[in-house]
Amino acid sequence: MARFFLLLLLTLFSAATALRRSEFPPSFLFGAGTSSYQIEGAYLDDNKGLSNWDIFTHIQEGRFGSINPAGVKFYNSLINDLLRKGIQPFVTLNHFDIPRELEDRYGSWLSSEMQEDYVYFAELCFKMFGDRVKHWTTFNEPNLMAKLQYFSGRYPPNHCSRPFGKCASENSSTEPYIAAHNIILAHAKTADIYRKNYKGEKQLLRNQIDFIGINHYKTLYVKDCILSPCELDTYNGDALVYELAERNGIPIGKPTPVANNYVVPTSMEKLVMNLKQRYNNTPMYITENGYAQIGNSSTPAEELINDTERLSYIRDYLTYLGYAIRKGADVRGYFVWSLMDNFEWLSEITGVYYVDGNNLVGNLKKCIRKHIFKKIYLLCLFDHFSATLTGM
Ligand SMILES: *[C@@H]1O[C@H](CO)[C@@H](O)[C@H](O)[C@H]1NC(C)=O
Ligand SMILES: *[C@@H]1O[C@H](CO)[C@@H](O)[C@H](O)[C@H]1NC(C)=O
Ligand SMILES: *[C@@H]1O[C@H](CO)[C@@H](O)[C@H](O)[C@H]1NC(C)=O
Repeated sequence: MARFFLLLLLTLFSAATALRRSEFPPSFLFGAGTSSYQIEGAYLDDNKGLSNWDIFTHIQEGRFGSINPAGVKFYNSLINDLLRKGIQPFVTLNHFDIPRELEDRYGSWLSSEMQEDYVYFAELCFKMFGDRVKHWTTFNEPNLMAKLQYFSGRYPPNHCSRPFGKCASENSSTEPYIAAHNIILAHAKTADIYRKNYKGEKQLLRNQIDFIGINHYKTLYVKDCILSPCELDTYNGDALVYELAERNGIPIGKPTPVANNYVVPTSMEKLVMNLKQRYNNTPMYITENGYAQIGNSSTPAEELINDTERLSYIRDYLTYLGYAIRKGADVRGYFVWSLMDNFEWLSEITGVYYVDGNNLVGNLKKCIRKHIFKKIYLLCLFDHFSATLTGM
């Protein structure tokens, strides 16, 4: 009976949609992203030292010390459990959070000392987890680190200067560049060490990347401010562009609950094809893509588990990603953001797995609720979109 029901469902959806597992190479990986600070909680447990975000969100005294065996044990168990379930871990070494101590000691990313501490941390991770983790990313959204931490000051350490934001002090014209400089060098040194000592590649390559990670959510128009008259906005002023969501009064795509976030699935193909050409078809992974809802602790659960818009968003973006792959783009994987609702820094609800912030009990959103026998959301999605599931 269950089987009959499933077949019926597949038939129903196959007419309306065209997305199939077979549209992606057999080796193509599907996954879901999370980040430690955004989901783990336990900010004072097991001798964990405080991070910049702990201070930002709680204000407490900091600690700093040697390697914490409880932390290593935690990630060892996590990695082992993932592998046991047939899930390959892709590890991002830095996702916006750093030990607060490094901020206090020397100003974190504004100091070249941070490069050394980052490389030290990265190498520890390679040593401790590298026997099982084969995919590493150095930084999540380094461009946003520079902008949100040192330009607009929205993220800790809240540095900015007028007119770009209201912060106690600092300099929006210089600090983002200093931070970016240290981040890029920390990346390059780490990549070099990894290749020489952990990957078996002895030769120093000029290109310090093995793959490009793309976090893609939304699309806006930009107006050129070099050759045409336009007002420079405070956020993109140095790039000499002005962002806008409409042209001749027509929005660029379907609006979402989040301001300035429009759904433009064709952009996935254009973006990937652009990077393919610009970087000589360096392997790519879509490291984040997803649909944000707006919610808070009083938003009704029925509203938050309604995945109608999210399902079509993911289906359409994957469809255009498939087109790029068929045109030769070397894209090797897709990660939906996020595995579960999380502490989305200062903003929206994005998870594909509903987490009830009041009860701390996870509930599955619409798709999984219908297909509870499936292991992960993307399997469930393909099921939903009438996919041929062989090979997943
Ligand atoms: C930022 O630093 C630059 C270069 O030192 C200086 O010209 C500018 O006046 C500074 N801006 C602020 C707001 O302090
Ligand atoms: C919480 O979200 C609901 C919509 O789900 C909204 O109406 C309400 O204003 C929000 N409350 C706060 C405090 O943001
Ligand atoms: C879910 O969201 C869609 C699109 O916003 C809406 O049409 C539908 O009525 C919603 N369903 C429920 C049960 O709220």
